[in-house]
Amino acid sequence: MTASSDGVLHTLFRSEQGGHEQVVLCQDRASGLKAVIALHNTDLGPGLGGTRFYPYESEEAALEDALNLSRGMSYKNALAGLDHGGGKAVIIGDPEQIKTEELLLAYGRFVASLGGRYVTACDVGTYVADMDVVARECRWTTGRSPEHGGAGDSSVLTAFGVFQGMRACAQHQWGDPTLRGRKVGVAGVGKVGHYLVEHLLEDGAEVVVTDVREESVRRVTDKHPQVTVVADTEALIRVEGLDIYAPCALGGALNDESVRALTAGVVCGAANNQLAHAGVEKDLADRGILYAPDYVVNAGGVIQVADELHGFDFDRCRKKAAKIFDTTLEIFARAKSDGVPPVAAADRIAEQRMAEARARR
Ligand SMILES: NC(=O)c1ccc[n+]([C@@H]2O[C@H](COP(=O)([O-])OP(=O)(O)OC[C@H]3O[C@@H](n4cnc5c(N)ncnc54)[C@H](O)[C@@H]3O)[C@@H](O)[C@H]2O)c1
Repeated sequence: MTASSDGVLHTLFRSEQGGHEQVVLCQDRASGLKAVIALHNTDLGPGLGGTRFYPYESEEAALEDALNLSRGMSYKNALAGLDHGGGKAVIIGDPEQIKTEELLLAYGRFVASLGGRYVTACDVGTYVADMDVVARECRWTTGRSPEHGGAGDSSVLTAFGVFQGMRACAQHQWGDPTLRGRKVGVAGVGKVGHYLVEHLLEDGAEVVVTDVREESVRRVTDKHPQVTVVADTEALIRVEGLDIYAPCALGGALNDESVRALTAGVVCGAANNQLAHAGVEKDLADRGILYAPDYVVNAGGVIQVADELHGFDFDRCRKKAAKIFDTTLEIFARAKSDGVPPVAAADRIAEQRMAEARARR
């Protein structure tokens, strides 16, 4: 046995990050597919999570990502109130270079071979059109286009869910869910961020934005000239009188430096993995900054793809996404009563839901 396979087995069966139910290594030589499908926990139902297509530095790095991401999905799905466990897949390689129909079909056959224990969807590097191809080989595919029976773009409901989380922050922090008169800074006005701006303006908030892409900023300011634009995220987090900071770009927005500099008393945004490292959640709490866990408030997208399995219904989905308001409030209450940061409280609630499902079996 080589050192690296020993490393894999150690991670799976003996390490702190362990506890996964099943990990599948997939290879199709004809198309060049190399993929890892990880199922963390299926107590609540079939594992649900997207397929990341990424040029990993090594196979070990890909496996580690699959293990971490699938674990994250167990918590996200449990907190979203879905009857789904945590699963995630990664395809190794540069999608720009190696993504072909043949490869996606081969991938679909691997997902199908799990007989419904894993349901796939889009993630970084995979798109609605890719899921349409995967679905030709595998019925446990969501995130497809409306022409192929899917729900299409998930950013509308993701933004709506983040807005609900933000209303819960306002309720907890200021005793009223409205954002009227609050100054909200949105970093990243892409697919999700620009819809979030619409909700905020409609509710009467004052909005400040930044984005590295000029077109993204222009799309917002052309429609809403009253929105203020600042040069970059460094400037945004220092805006005087900022009430809420909404990271809606990439991960790692909350690090030692940004937490120190932040003028806002609340952080609530769509970006995945906002905490740059363990311990940042405590620094936020120590500074009295209320942090709404990203995987709770950005669950609108996964709520949408789960709904697609039963024939997508936008209104039903919107109702489910609206519950993010109650869940976020419940987390803040639990954090207060347990004396822990909201992230720890969220994890406890998710673990309780999984344990209850296990006990019912
Ligand atoms: N789309 C969904 O349904 C969904 C669901 C859950 C979580 N998320 C997460 O929300 C975030 C945004 O997703 P999206 O679908 O809107 O992506 P997107 O690519 O459409 O938008 C991201 C925007 O951020 C901008 N950006 C990148 N780096 C930046 C920086 N350093 N400073 C300022 N702006 C920057 C980009 O130019 C882009 O306009 C991501 O972290 C994503 O993982 C998205």
